[in-house]
Amino acid sequence: GPALGVLTSGGDAQGMNAAVRAVVRTALRLGARPYAVHEGWGGAVAGGPGIRPLGWDDVGGVLHVGGTVLGSARCQEFRTREGRRAAAANLVRHGIDRLVVIGGDGSLRGAEEFRQEWPELLAELVAAGELDEAVRLAHPRLAVAGLVGSIDNDLAGTDMTIGADTALHRILEAVDALRSTAASHRRTFVVEVMGRHCGYLALMAAVAGGADAVLVPEDPPGEGWRDALAEHLLAARGAGLRDLIVIVAEGATDRAGNPITSQDVGALVTERLGGEGARVTVLGHVQRGGRPSAYDRWMPTLLGYAATQHVLSVADASATVLGVRHNCITLLPLERAIAATNAVRDAVAAQDFAAARVARGGSFAS
Ligand code: F6P
Repeated sequence: GPALGVLTSGGDAQGMNAAVRAVVRTALRLGARPYAVHEGWGGAVAGGPGIRPLGWDDVGGVLHVGGTVLGSARCQEFRTREGRRAAAANLVRHGIDRLVVIGGDGSLRGAEEFRQEWPELLAELVAAGELDEAVRLAHPRLAVAGLVGSIDNDLAGTDMTIGADTALHRILEAVDALRSTAASHRRTFVVEVMGRHCGYLALMAAVAGGADAVLVPEDPPGEGWRDALAEHLLAARGAGLRDLIVIVAEGATDRAGNPITSQDVGALVTERLGGEGARVTVLGHVQRGGRPSAYDRWMPTLLGYAATQHVLSVADASATVLGVRHNCITLLPLERAIAATNAVRDAVAAQDFAAARVARGGSFAS
């Protein structure tokens, strides 16, 4: 049967293992030969033990485990043409011309570039005497299916990315835990959450955790934000609330584009809330660790199954992202998902939030 590579790239996310397991077992059931590509694109560039055939039992006992058993990396060499040429040579020598890539938007962008370059890369290898012409002719194109693995939930075209739900659970466990000590001391806790340029985790944690205020990149406050926040918190104290929680996305800025850090907000509270010392908790990588939630087990399982079926059945080389929209599995051209993600980022940077909303959802309305 055809050979198929599976890799996890970029920052890890809970639920990646469920996707890998589903890819491997679906491939075996469909008579294909699945290969692990280890350490992100690094395994493809390095070859040797970086690319390894996988059997049914190799992906046993991983469904409930966070992170990725394949290893992951943000690979610098793959950003160079020489790196991608080496990767193409190593993959095609195993007969691999189909890939399921599980990663964030950066990894999927890399996959799309690689797919487009594949014919040229193979031609260069033949011209350099490093590859047999017969091998090139047998694998003229690369097919790529992308699954979005990132706690940030920052790719347009899918409602949820793999890991975002678990990260949110992790954040809520922390917020719930902080509440009791906050209440005992009548303290304000400022909690910094991840998400890079995206405020999804911060906003949803604020809603689900009942936070008193939240700062996200998509809704940067205007000039008077310090006074407004201090007054809001003072009013909450005045109303008798003992535990106050402010959630700050790591990418939060003010309307002029200046970063607003959790330390800034902590200092503001300490200064303005009548001698009350705020405590700042930066949750960090704990958000990316631990057991995946039920959603981050079944959703990547269904996506891994669908991606494998897709990548084994396409005759052309189209690169596709599989995601979830309106609770259904959706296939989108990778280029379109990336273009929409870029459009959201540009619109947020230009503070055109109506345009950002359209780019995030409107262009994919079904
Ligand atoms: O993209 C996932 C993410 O956890 C972001 O939320 C965060 O900004 C970044 O990765 C942290 O990267 P690193 O793991 O390299 O410190």
